[in-house]
Amino acid sequence: MHILLTGGAGYIGSHACVVLLEAGHDVVVVDNFSNSSPVALERVKQITGKSVVQYPVDLTDRQALRNVFEVHPIDAVMHFAGLKAVDESVNRPLHYYWNNVTGSVVLLETMAEYGVRSIVFSSSATVYGATEQVPTDETCPPSPTNPYGRSKWMVETILADLFASDPRWHIGILRYFNPVGAHESGLIGEDPNGVPNNLVPYIAQVAVGKREWLRVWGNDYPTPDGTGIRDFIHVMDLVEGHLSALETLLEKPACLVYNLGTGRGTSVLEMVAAFEKASERPIPYRILDRRPGDIAVSTADPTRANRELGWHARRDVFDMCRDTWRWQRQNPDGYGRSGR
Ligand code: UD1
Repeated sequence: MHILLTGGAGYIGSHACVVLLEAGHDVVVVDNFSNSSPVALERVKQITGKSVVQYPVDLTDRQALRNVFEVHPIDAVMHFAGLKAVDESVNRPLHYYWNNVTGSVVLLETMAEYGVRSIVFSSSATVYGATEQVPTDETCPPSPTNPYGRSKWMVETILADLFASDPRWHIGILRYFNPVGAHESGLIGEDPNGVPNNLVPYIAQVAVGKREWLRVWGNDYPTPDGTGIRDFIHVMDLVEGHLSALETLLEKPACLVYNLGTGRGTSVLEMVAAFEKASERPIPYRILDRRPGDIAVSTADPTRANRELGWHARRDVFDMCRDTWRWQRQNPDGYGRSGR
């Protein structure tokens, strides 16, 4: 199949390229490279021996997107493109709604124009907000607490409305828990701009000596060691989940929602210990106040994806740390400035 990946040069998109190419699909990438590097796609070629066709296209540029559909016989879309920093979304909500929501609407309109009606959408567990239902299953009512989360929920709603209006669509909405890790080659991985917001990229930068110590945001949560608990999922498990979702969706028209998580929780301090073990380096840390907007515990109930997609996350926290470390050690400056 010819699969279009929006945001295909990004952290998750580049790993999806590898899995799709290795499964024998043709991959076309559109990416505006605002938070990604074309070097990632060169690395994908190095890993798979296969090329990816790429276009520097912003989804809000309707004509540029049409040109891609004009040239390639696209069968299905995986829609990864989007802005994802919570803080920034609070300060620049219109920027987030324009990119994440308008970009998705233009994509869906263009797909409809070209008769392409299969899409897997990257949503986030962030749509559940501060739910008390933990582990969280897909029936939990979404209640996002910031513009980034609301942009994801809006697109989910748009997809459900689209399916209601035209039941020929095949739609899969995947709610990611906390993706971490890297391809086992160490050639591709997460390359955050500036100071990492997320825990594991920050720990990795401490291990490699780019940052002195980790700031642990609070140790007074109602958890066994007082630090926050998350459901970390290896990015390779995550992208394998996308392939399973696509295969399931293609069987019959539907609009389906799945959590992608392991179902297991790991605390901040447990993650620090696991990373120390995997990297054989100390991770100094200091306890600071809670980060506003953080919740104590977030874990998935992945039963629906396990049952309906026949998919299970296979990799454990040690695998996540070992693979993140290999990527960080081999690429201390990520894809480097030249790629930006
Ligand atoms: C965050 C976003 C979420 C987004 C996800 C993307 C917030 C409030 N939530 O989730 O919307 O979908 O990233 O992956 O920003 N921690 C530290 N020190 C750090 C960084 C994090 O102690 O330097 C702690 C946090 O307090 C939290 C845990 O580590 O308990 C995980 O944090 P993070 O990796 O940022 O993920 P989320 O907050 O779950």
